[in-house]
Amino acid sequence: MKEEVRRAAEILRRGGLVAFPTETVYGLGADASNASAVKKLYTVKRRPADHPVIVHFDSAARAFTWAHNVPEAAAQLAKRFWPGPLTLVLKRSPLAHDFVTGGQDSIGLRVPLHPVAHELFAAFGGGVAAPSANRFGLVSPTTAAHVRDDLGAEVDLVLEGGPSEVGIESTIVDLSGGKPALLRPGKISAADIAAIIGPVEEKRVDSPRHSGGLERHYAPRTPARLVPTHELDREIATHKDKVGVLAFSRPDERVDYWLRMPRDAKTYAHKLYGALRELDSAGCEALLIEAPPDSPEWTAVLDRLRRACG
Ligand code: TXA
Ligand code: MG
Repeated sequence: MKEEVRRAAEILRRGGLVAFPTETVYGLGADASNASAVKKLYTVKRRPADHPVIVHFDSAARAFTWAHNVPEAAAQLAKRFWPGPLTLVLKRSPLAHDFVTGGQDSIGLRVPLHPVAHELFAAFGGGVAAPSANRFGLVSPTTAAHVRDDLGAEVDLVLEGGPSEVGIESTIVDLSGGKPALLRPGKISAADIAAIIGPVEEKRVDSPRHSGGLERHYAPRTPARLVPTHELDREIATHKDKVGVLAFSRPDERVDYWLRMPRDAKTYAHKLYGALRELDSAGCEALLIEAPPDSPEWTAVLDRLRRACG
């Protein structure tokens, strides 16, 4: 095991905060069984105390000890997609305290694929509470440098793990009672889930109790707008100075800050948050984002873009 990971596990045991890479985005971790460590986590994250946080593990077996009765559907999804970019919301066991569930009777569980995350959780041996390692409401970090930019000295250690491959947050499926529901789309699609457990309800009604459901979230500081391809030209003409553009086509010379994005949804997702951060730091007055196609493979990206645009 790398010395750095050993040190990170020790920091968690002492109640400190460790940022770590996952295949989705970087997480800011604390011992999920330690009330004061989780409190510190919420303070650094600037997250309201009644919002639940996902708890991360090195294995499904360990994760499921935090759930009360694991439904067959959860076992099947775990078998197929863990380790990987999927979070399961289940009824909680007594191991999951109010300070990680936001007082709710359910718990969000995830077993990431990234080898550094896996090593860290295995070395630590327990559940690691971790939201994305950015300030509340802003764009999630997909590199260790993003984390340092956002949280700097407030984190005890940032583990390096290269750029996050998926680039957007995990798919969240609620199996805590009632009909299975997709709370947040991600790389694993509603169709991928349905192929294993049958139809899932796509929850478009946003509950403030899960912060990814807030209307403006994953957002840059600069006001951003989604613009259909055929209106992009006209929009650029009305803005002229200090506009940043994220688009599929080649740069327009009237625009100083133009980032060209790939036409493949997976590669787009991988690059999205880095691109939003880059445009956000360019000092633009507005960001124009060319809308991707409204087709199933773009669902998760479109969800994040809509929230980035409020
Ligand atoms: O990919 C990810 O999921 C990343 C990495 C670090 O694992 N984590 C992440 O965490 O995106 P966070 O806290 O930024 O977003 C987690 C979402 C929030 O919307 C939270 O409210 C929701 O999951 N959530 C967690 N537990 C829940 C629960 N018991 N019921 C409903 N929503 C829950
Ligand atoms: Mg987040």
